[in-house]
Amino acid sequence: MILITCSKGVAPFLKEELLLLGFPVSAVTAASVATEGTLDEALRLNLLIRTGQRVLLLLKEFEAGNPDELYREVSGIEWEDLIERDGYISVTSSVDNPTIKDSRYANLKCKDAIVDRIMEKYGRRPDSGSGKDRAVVFLYWKESRCSLYLDTSGEPLSRRGYRKIPFEAPMQETLAAAVVLATGWEGSGNFINPMCGSGTLAIEAALVGLNRAPGFLRDNYGFMHLKGFNERLWNEIRMKARKEARKDLKGRIIAADISYEAIEAAKKNAATAGVAHVIDFVVCDYSETPVPEGGGVVVLNPEYGERMGRIKELEGTYSGIGNYFKQKCSGYSGYVFTGNPGLAKKVGLRPKRRIPFFNSGIECRLLEYELYEGSRKRQKQGDEKTGII
Ligand SMILES: C[S@@+](CC[C@H](N)C(=O)[O-])C[C@H]1O[C@@H](n2cnc3c(N)ncnc32)[C@H](O)[C@@H]1O
Repeated sequence: MILITCSKGVAPFLKEELLLLGFPVSAVTAASVATEGTLDEALRLNLLIRTGQRVLLLLKEFEAGNPDELYREVSGIEWEDLIERDGYISVTSSVDNPTIKDSRYANLKCKDAIVDRIMEKYGRRPDSGSGKDRAVVFLYWKESRCSLYLDTSGEPLSRRGYRKIPFEAPMQETLAAAVVLATGWEGSGNFINPMCGSGTLAIEAALVGLNRAPGFLRDNYGFMHLKGFNERLWNEIRMKARKEARKDLKGRIIAADISYEAIEAAKKNAATAGVAHVIDFVVCDYSETPVPEGGGVVVLNPEYGERMGRIKELEGTYSGIGNYFKQKCSGYSGYVFTGNPGLAKKVGLRPKRRIPFFNSGIECRLLEYELYEGSRKRQKQGDEKTGII
């Protein structure tokens, strides 16, 4: 069994991705999707999945009431077939058991069981520590039920390797990918991203539109440090993904921000991701962001503020977004990603859909607005009637 974790709200998009790749889906929770496969399938998933955080390969499920029972069960796994004797392992966990006050103790017990077993078999103990850049083992322990996994990703998949310059409040790459998938954009219409910050949404859109594997830039994964790693298969999977990528897009991607520094960061990040050639960068107020003919999606991720004073200041920005949609974006679908429902109301348009997400623990919504062709004219007529011109 393979369990792919994701941030809350993202699971429906992750499920869809898995089905499209031909993987069966056996279970979906708020923050994970389960599928079937071996270490070989995990390679493919690490390379191709856009919205998942970690690809976990189940090793064993067992009962353990206390740390000694945990040690005994973990010792029973044939670690000598998985971890090199001169390798390095890191154990992470999610623990909710009455005998454990600090999950680091569970990690330690688990790690001891692994290295003691390898020591017994080979007379040599692998190194261990907190670095996630080599073999990683993940323990899920709830009450007396344990599931032990190999974390084949190592570092989370959101670390694509292109965001060298984060700028302000960047969106996690995997969340940005889920937002792009939620808009349904696939590369044929235009993708307009005012307030682009470090460019994450525009870059993820480019990767989707070009059918580029999101994991292509990364040269290190947890699975590379496991004994069963099939390097030949990995190279074949990468080669196939490279062949299936498109060179260009039919539509245009426009990434704009009022901050020159943000655009400089976004340009560098896009260049690192190898997609700068399909993105037009503009320094301008969001309301001046060019919207070419032909339709598509306009996606904004404005700041949503935590301080009252700042929220008051942002009200004008949100109502301005409503005006921008009405005046410049007809024929497009408009999207606003925000964690503040009060500010969202200031957009002043009725959302067609409200898609729930979480960003850094804050409940957010991706609001979708249908901006019909001619809505500008209708709005003008409405404004004339109410005397607002
Ligand atoms: C929450 S951040 C966007 C983060 C982005 N999604 C990312 O992943 O990096 C909001 C961005 O809006 C920009 N911004 C604020 N006011 C703006 C305005 N009036 N016009 C255009 N951009 C603006 C800020 O410079 C900032 O980069």
